[in-house]
Amino acid sequence: MNENKIPRLYHRTELGKMMLGDSLKVLKKQAPASVDLVMTSPPFGLVRKKEYGNVAADDYCEWFDPFAEAIHRVLKDTGSLVIDIGGAWNQGLPTRHLYHFKLLIRLCEQHGFHLAQDFYWWNPSKLPTPAEWVTVRRIRVKDAINTVWWLSKTPWPKASNRRVLQPYSPSMKELLEKGYQAKKRPSGHDISDKFSNDNGAAIPPNLIAIPNTESNSAYLRYCQEHGLTAHPARFPAELPEYFIRMLTDPNDLVFDPFGGSCITGEVSERLKRRWICAELIEDYLAGALGRFELGRGTNGKGQASYNPDNQGNYYQVPRPGILWNGAVGDLLPEDGGRTRTKKPILEPAPTEQENIDAPEAFILVAAQTTLDGF
Ligand SMILES: C[S@@+](CC[C@H](N)C(=O)[O-])C[C@H]1O[C@@H](n2cnc3c(N)ncnc32)[C@H](O)[C@@H]1O
Repeated sequence: MNENKIPRLYHRTELGKMMLGDSLKVLKKQAPASVDLVMTSPPFGLVRKKEYGNVAADDYCEWFDPFAEAIHRVLKDTGSLVIDIGGAWNQGLPTRHLYHFKLLIRLCEQHGFHLAQDFYWWNPSKLPTPAEWVTVRRIRVKDAINTVWWLSKTPWPKASNRRVLQPYSPSMKELLEKGYQAKKRPSGHDISDKFSNDNGAAIPPNLIAIPNTESNSAYLRYCQEHGLTAHPARFPAELPEYFIRMLTDPNDLVFDPFGGSCITGEVSERLKRRWICAELIEDYLAGALGRFELGRGTNGKGQASYNPDNQGNYYQVPRPGILWNGAVGDLLPEDGGRTRTKKPILEPAPTEQENIDAPEAFILVAAQTTLDGF
């Protein structure tokens, strides 16, 4: 396995290096205070093993400790560490493991990082999983958010939100056109008339919406043509691009210690940042070569193109409540869903008027079975 070998240079581009081997060893060779941004998605902590060697969620923090120490050493005082990390479900239970929150606390309290800001990456195309809790027993909602911890070595990492502005929403555009009457809001906030200045674009929130739906990219075609398995846990180009833009300048150094298919390298190269990606598994780097072959890669095509008239510039999150019509609906399972309910057979939903008159008329006829072995 490459863990035990001395890391070697696998490929070099104009601005970057792919290293094959254990990133801990690569980090140890890196000069102190030489890296501007560590942008990475480590293997997630899982309760079941996946093919690229995930770490058990219970042991996650201890596993990450040496990486945290090594990353802290190589970062400049102005530098940042951005970690995309998904949560995990406890095995056989509809409850969440706490490992990614524990990691955050440990990085700050034991390794001296500062939490510059917590981000939430919403993948609007995420399937409703885990099916057992979400679509079968219907006792949880779908898990479509990864946490993205933006940490820094000092409280003052270099950053500018001007690099990641987004278009005004249709309602803000309307407000800018019609003008805003300066007044105190019900929340108590005093909104001055500066609020209606058109600054050309809006400051984004810390919720980032990117569907992870790559299906016909140059990278995937390259893997297919060369009989290589595409990396199973890639993040979309826009995610590293967001932070590379906001937190680094051209010629700065970006490091991804869990490089995978080297998307961080590809984006860095396109944005004229120097980069290093380290990866343990050679096959993943073999596929990553396709990102740097002339005429391949995303070449910026991964970016959403802005058409001011296109509603598709936005992902819409419905306001909760827009389907609530006063119906009582089926009763909540007294046992919290421990007993598996076969498809509930519901009487036809009463009309709104029927509901108002006789909410108890809503009858649930459910066949109950106990599920063994889940
Ligand atoms: C979640 S994946 C990263 C995927 C990557 N962000 C992408 O979009 O292609 C994590 C990667 O870290 C690699 N890895 C795990 N431990 C490593 C180590 N000690 N050194 C280098 N790579 C490691 C795994 O092989 C896996 O490919």
